[in-house]
Amino acid sequence: MEAGKTSASSEAKDFGKALCIITGASKGFGRCLAKEISALLKPGSVLILVARSGEKLQELDEDLSSDSDGLVIRCVVADLGQKDGVERVIIEARKTPSSDINSLFLFNNAASLGDVSRYVRGFTDMDEVDRYLSMNVSSALCLTAGILQVFPGHVGLRRCVVNVSSLCALQPFPSWVLYCTGKAARDMMFRVLAKEEPELRVLSYAPGPLDTDMQLHARSNTADDNIRKSTTAMHAEGRLLTCEESVGKLIKVMLKDDYASGAHLDFYDL
Ligand SMILES: NC(=O)c1ccc[n+]([C@@H]2O[C@H](COP(=O)([O-])OP(=O)(O)OC[C@H]3O[C@@H](n4cnc5c(N)ncnc54)[C@H](OP(=O)(O)O)[C@@H]3O)[C@@H](O)[C@H]2O)c1
Repeated sequence: MEAGKTSASSEAKDFGKALCIITGASKGFGRCLAKEISALLKPGSVLILVARSGEKLQELDEDLSSDSDGLVIRCVVADLGQKDGVERVIIEARKTPSSDINSLFLFNNAASLGDVSRYVRGFTDMDEVDRYLSMNVSSALCLTAGILQVFPGHVGLRRCVVNVSSLCALQPFPSWVLYCTGKAARDMMFRVLAKEEPELRVLSYAPGPLDTDMQLHARSNTADDNIRKSTTAMHAEGRLLTCEESVGKLIKVMLKDDYASGAHLDFYDL
């Protein structure tokens, strides 16, 4: 029987002894995910938290360490828009021997909204666009590839890669060209990966509109009137989701583990 599976139901009750990597763990969805998932990791598991803000990662580390028994937490302060930032995460992951774990989880969660104050016609600077895509697309591909190379598939190791996606991967939002383009590219990237590696579990999860700094940035800076008004109204009317609600659904889906690999699942469809 797989680690953590109960005989009475097909839903696992924990994620086993795992190496779990979460990018963008310093705040918002990633921070909440780190808190919730740490309670479902068996002693001896390793949790790698990645973001640029070392201070916030340190606070989270202290928070988690006080509650979690036998969980090793490692913080990697890295800018994922830079090659050496991605490499540093891979170097940290390599310190955990594959023989020490029975599950591997990589959450590609870090992202930025980009400049939403302009429309497509305003993006003439290729360097600016490249910088956005480096951080939001290339880093997720290269980090995922690097981690899969360090931990090749073998019997007894369950491997799962999650792409934190968005409705914007599927629908065009005026003045959010960078974000929509990046999310669409990532979804396709992970669909290709799922086809190439049938043993790997791959999920693109759209968490719904969350009450985080990214939403604040959206309602403060969006050029398009309709989008700005609708994000402002969602906030004012209390229609944003809490990270806890959305993380809870993601964890349930992952424990159940019966989704089609490569699928795009949305909070509201679950
Ligand atoms: N908020 C929403 O309504 C919403 C809706 C749909 C999908 N999503 C997706 O959900 C995920 C989490 O979003 P969120 O709302 O929690 O965003 P957030 O509050 O803005 O947090 C973003 C996280 O990414 C990290 N990050 C940003 N740039 C980085 C860089 N260059 N290198 C390393 N880390 C970086 C940030 O840490 P540092 O600043 O410390 O580096 C932070 O931990 C994202 O993929 C987002 O696209 C969000």
